[in-house]
Amino acid sequence: MISQYGKHCCLYPGSFDPVTLGHLDIIRRAASIFDTVVVGVLHNPDKQGRFSVEDRMDMLKRACEGIPNVEIIAWPGLLAQLTRESGLRVVVRGVRSIADLDSETTMAHINGQLDPGLETVFLPASPGRADVSASMVRQLAQFGADISNYVPSQVLPDILAAYAKP
Ligand code: PNS
Repeated sequence: MISQYGKHCCLYPGSFDPVTLGHLDIIRRAASIFDTVVVGVLHNPDKQGRFSVEDRMDMLKRACEGIPNVEIIAWPGLLAQLTRESGLRVVVRGVRSIADLDSETTMAHINGQLDPGLETVFLPASPGRADVSASMVRQLAQFGADISNYVPSQVLPDILAAYAKP
């Protein structure tokens, strides 16, 4: 059973594997526009997960401490199922490049077909955040590179621990 949300709320869905400073920038900006930002940890079948859904939620919660109008949820199914069942009518997605805009537009169209009336709003990555991605963070961490410029300080130890050699 999922909570019901009103008109001035939005869903910010993603894999958040792990949360990055790029994600946090979008969350902060969405939180200044909408009454409530529901950050949804969803499954992306195209990506092999590194962190468990529980760990991703835990890291998101700590990264978003201090932003009062943010809720973190997990959803195992289709995004459009979540929006239909929760009453959420707006999806926010960050775009970092023209390539992102292309794939995100397709995703917005499909989600709109599955849940008519659902709107997707794109926020451009802030300057200096367009190169940050969770997959880049995972790859850098795997090879022991410094990731402190790309992830919230609250979750840096979690990521380092996950990639620490035994
Ligand atoms: O952070 P990501 O990996 O870019 O987020 C993509 C995500 C998780 C939002 C997307 O894969 C998704 O919506 N997954 C749920 C399943 C679904 O609804 N797929 C159809 C999307 S058109």
